[in-house]
Amino acid sequence: MAAGVNARFEPKTFDNPKAGGEQPEYMQSHLYKPESAVVGRFSAEECIDCHLNETPNIVKAFQRGAMGKPGVQNREVSEEAGMEKISCINCHGSDHQELRMPTRDTCDTCHPTQYEQFMKSRHSIAWARATACGRWSDHETVDQDFIEVMCGQCHSIEYRCDSCHARHDFSLVEARKPDTCGICHMGPDHPQIEMYETSRHGIKYLTEGDAWNFTGSISEFEGRGPLPAPVCITCHMPQGTHDVSYGIAYGPVGGDMVWMDLDHKPVGEEELKQRREDMIKVCKQCHSERFAKSRLEIADKVHKAAKDVLLEAKHIIQGLEEEGLIEPKTSERPQYEWYYVPRAEGKLVLGGPQLTRDTSGIERTFFKLYKYDYIKAYKGAYHFNPDYTHWYGWVEENLALIDIQDKARALRKAAANERAVQEASTKAENANAKAEAALRAKAPAERGICGPTAIAAIAVLPVVLYGLLRRRR
Ligand code: HEC
Ligand code: HEC
Ligand code: HEC
Ligand code: HEC
Ligand code: HEC
Ligand code: HEC
Ligand code: HEC
Ligand code: HEC
Repeated sequence: MAAGVNARFEPKTFDNPKAGGEQPEYMQSHLYKPESAVVGRFSAEECIDCHLNETPNIVKAFQRGAMGKPGVQNREVSEEAGMEKISCINCHGSDHQELRMPTRDTCDTCHPTQYEQFMKSRHSIAWARATACGRWSDHETVDQDFIEVMCGQCHSIEYRCDSCHARHDFSLVEARKPDTCGICHMGPDHPQIEMYETSRHGIKYLTEGDAWNFTGSISEFEGRGPLPAPVCITCHMPQGTHDVSYGIAYGPVGGDMVWMDLDHKPVGEEELKQRREDMIKVCKQCHSERFAKSRLEIADKVHKAAKDVLLEAKHIIQGLEEEGLIEPKTSERPQYEWYYVPRAEGKLVLGGPQLTRDTSGIERTFFKLYKYDYIKAYKGAYHFNPDYTHWYGWVEENLALIDIQDKARALRKAAANERAVQEASTKAENANAKAEAALRAKAPAERGICGPTAIAAIAVLPVVLYGLLRRRR
């Protein structure tokens, strides 16, 4: 590793070789375009001098962090590279007209271990997953800037190590606390921070955590042994690994649940079993193996049961679609691409990528069932939060199923009524037509005085009367 660091890192000529190549998508986006009134190339000292006036808090934050302290830091890097001090230039470049915002590649030049672990995790595909999502590509109706900021502030983690290592002090204490994960892992579809903070684990942290020691490098922090109760990183970044997918078995192991890996291939059953064992090892730092295993197995059962409710709801809506009862018709909706499922051309999309417009009420209810309720039920179970599992999750999910069943009945009833009305009116029309035909077939005398004979008779009448009168005279 040390050799790798040396080879990659050239402090004197720093202009990040990687960042100089093809820019990642995040950097190509409008989110950063260098534009500056200041012209020139500057030394590290000049950056600091001027920025102490321009942006004093940034300079102070940087100088209080490990990377800003000359000589004291860098056990892994500086000794090898003979480096004394990191400056603004290492991350932003020295030419003020060509400033850069650092990405994971910038950090990789000095921190290859964390970078490689990070690249194994789902964090490393978060931007790609979001941009491939139907709700993202629905830009015809939503301004691109708007959606890029809505999704991008969380999903840019794919390119941004500073998602957890907030600039400019890059504090490890901050990165370790659950609040940092909670910036993104919150809200109706992934409320991990809310679930954690009201679980037994989280309550220990909230009530006693102020006294816990979150300082030090990874080896110092981990060397002290486990905290009294787990925080997010205890279970998801054990021993400081940056692969947050470590130990995640995606639900009932070996069941019918399929999860795609980073290359969009299903993760194998053997690997899932291994991951579950890894997670149980984490619990064993504080619990018995029997206890941990049984708790996770119960969560698997909740996951399975919640998925069955979801499938039932899906089935109902698919049935309605086949009967032509879903409005607006799927063939009349905007088309978009989503790579989990076949191209969504005129097809019903039920799940995460479902659009939140141009859809029907029953699908809207399904979206809530899938994205909010189902997810809370099983994610709540894995985070040992009874209320999220039961009231916010399982109960809401089943109530949503009732709504869907109700709506399906109403749609079918309305369709049946419409059919009955149509049949009745066809019947009435037929009856009328029959009656008319019958009338036409009857004798002319019976038709009253309106026939052609009557008209002729009326027309002739004055002539006859006139003739009669003349004869009398
Ligand atoms: C003479 C003063 C001065 C010097 C020297 C200077 N800067 Fe700046 N810098 C500014 C000012 C003023 C801004 C605010 C916007 C602008 O560029 O006009 C700024 C903005 C920035 C930004 C933010 C750009 C953005 O688009 O948000 C970065 C990053 C930056 N400087 C880095 C550096 C680095 C690195 C150096 C040294 C190589 C440096 N600055 C030297 C004055 C200076
Ligand atoms: C030019 C090399 C270099 C670059 C580029 C670099 N770092 Fe560092 N970083 C270091 C050195 C040196 C240390 C000190 C290591 C130590 O204390 O052992 C360090 C320490 C850290 C620490 C630990 C802080 C602490 O309190 O102990 C974090 C977190 C960190 N860097 C994150 C980042 C991130 C995020 C990026 C990219 C935005 C980045 N680094 C880019 C060299 C670099
Ligand atoms: C270890 C890498 C690193 C170093 C060193 C560094 N920065 Fe930054 N800086 C960042 C990151 C990461 C961002 C945010 C990038 C983004 O928005 O995509 C940033 C953004 C900025 C911004 C624009 C955003 C804002 O908050 O205004 C300014 C200005 C800035 N840095 C100034 C400086 C100055 C001045 C120094 C030197 C004292 C410095 N930076 C040193 C990583 C670094
Ligand atoms: C508040 C932060 C946040 C926002 C805003 C956000 N997401 Fe997410 N998203 C997440 C998190 C966190 C996860 C992982 C959830 C989990 O595993 O429990 C996720 C998961 C996803 C997934 C599943 C990823 C996969 O690999 O299966 C997709 C797709 C997605 N989001 C798309 C989007 C889109 C599109 C937008 C904007 C319209 C968006 N997200 C807005 C944080 C966010
Ligand atoms: C800036 C937003 C952001 C922050 C901060 C963040 N995450 Fe994530 N996280 C995401 C997104 C987005 C995903 C979904 C990525 C995907 O599947 O494409 C995700 C996924 C995950 C996953 C699921 C991995 C898998 O294989 O399914 C875990 C576990 C995770 N994050 C843990 C954490 C922990 C622990 C922290 C804090 C130390 C954290 N995250 C901080 C955005 C974030
Ligand atoms: C999900 C949040 C998260 C993201 C994203 C993240 N880190 Fe970290 N990082 C942490 C946490 C938490 C620790 C401390 C872990 C521990 O002590 O167990 C840490 C520790 C570090 C350290 C200290 C190393 C040491 O030996 O003390 C460095 C350096 C670092 N990260 C670099 C990076 C780089 C580079 C990236 C991007 C490729 C990155 N991190 C992305 C959360 C994150
Ligand atoms: C006591 C250990 C533990 C703690 C603490 C913990 N988690 Fe988890 N987490 C789990 C387990 C177990 C799973 C489910 C693993 C599986 O599916 O096999 C999980 C799953 C996840 C997932 C993936 C959800 C999915 O299936 O899409 C994310 C994201 C996540 N946790 C984030 C967090 C965040 C953020 C925190 C802190 C607020 C946190 N976790 C705290 C144990 C924990
Ligand atoms: C760092 C130590 C630690 C780790 C790791 C840990 N726990 Fe815990 N756990 C605790 C503590 C402390 C409590 C609170 C005990 C109490 O309430 O009496 C607790 C409580 C629980 C509870 C609630 C118990 C009850 O009686 O209501 C469950 C369930 C649980 N843990 C499951 C797990 C599982 C499963 C894992 C691994 C995925 C895990 N824990 C990892 C320390 C830990």
